[in-house]
Amino acid sequence: ATGPLVDSFGRRHNNLRISVTDRCNIRCFYCMPAENVQFLKRDKLLTFEEIVEFVRLMVPLGINKIRLTGGEPLVRNELHELVRMIAEIDGIKDIGLTTNGIFLARDAQKLYDAGLRRLNVSLDALDPVKFREVTRRDGYEEVLKGIQKAQEVGFHPIKINAVAIRGVTESEIVPFGRFARESGCEVRFIEYMPLDADAAWERKKVLFADEIVETLSREVQPLVPIREIEAEQPSTDFVFEDGIGRIGFIPSVSKPFCDHCNRFRLTADGKLRNCLFSLEETDIRDLLRTGGMEEKIVAAVRESIAGKWAGHHINDPDFQQPERPMYSIGG
Ligand code: GTP
Ligand code: 5AD
Ligand code: SF4
Repeated sequence: ATGPLVDSFGRRHNNLRISVTDRCNIRCFYCMPAENVQFLKRDKLLTFEEIVEFVRLMVPLGINKIRLTGGEPLVRNELHELVRMIAEIDGIKDIGLTTNGIFLARDAQKLYDAGLRRLNVSLDALDPVKFREVTRRDGYEEVLKGIQKAQEVGFHPIKINAVAIRGVTESEIVPFGRFARESGCEVRFIEYMPLDADAAWERKKVLFADEIVETLSREVQPLVPIREIEAEQPSTDFVFEDGIGRIGFIPSVSKPFCDHCNRFRLTADGKLRNCLFSLEETDIRDLLRTGGMEEKIVAAVRESIAGKWAGHHINDPDFQQPERPMYSIGG
């Protein structure tokens, strides 16, 4: 049962995103409810050993890229130990982490020492008041300190993810442009997607990539597209004309990258999701806990990939939002 994970549209899957917890220490409105979140009980979460066993089974199928997500992955105890365990698996070339940065000053060194190299930090505003408006919690100072600390320990380039929301993000565009130039971080704007817990997303609330390119080109400096090295990455990247400052866009709504999708997901409670927007998932936690089910697990993965849609349906009038909001899928 070896051989690549190819779906019915010929897309080869080498990229696995693993959510390690649904908990988070902030409450961004595009992802979580404000209060009274029902988090998974501890015994529902895959253990580090279970996660590692799953990853080992995926290597012969061509998985060589792993990204750890949440909720907020750094609220999971000793996450760097999991990083180390995954980094030690033969065949895993690339391990990344997407974090909100609040615990990054505390953990950056441990993560780097454990073998992590690709670090993405979610930050939606450089203005502290706006930060609080989006996250509904404190933490702005911690995130900025975390980014600085991560740079000091050697993470480079760090990618900053800012969700692009009409009525929220406009005032942040130019500050983020300058931040990219001054800090050396790549700032990526991600079009707001319908994965919020409150199901309040509307198309008119998306701030589109083209509009941000135009604003930056006018107010900071013209942006020049960078020819892509890998077509499988979701972002389209630009650099300012003078060569200083990288800006990326993940135009999930206006220009979906589904045609090149190479990823699938494992949720913190051990469900496979073949798409952010899939309405069905496949449990593998029971199989992992039963033991001796290696072949069944591999078969479950193949079946999940085989059932993958051509792409999401955000732009269709009959679009149906999945039950799991972003914090419980993992982004
Ligand atoms: P690598 O490809 O591992 O470097 O990371 P990435 O850029 O995919 O990672 P990150 O977690 O920073 O993702 C950035 C954003 O892209 C996420 O916030 C998602 O909103 C969006 N995204 C990631 N994967 C997908 C996907 O499969 N489909 C869509 N539509 N959006 C995605
Ligand atoms: N639309 C777009 N991006 C989102 N993220 C979380 N929710 C949404 C959404 N509804 C982003 C986070 C983080 C990444 C994992 O997903 O900002 O950077
Ligand atoms: Fe892949 Fe689904 Fe994301 Fe499209 S929306 S890129 S198919 S995960």
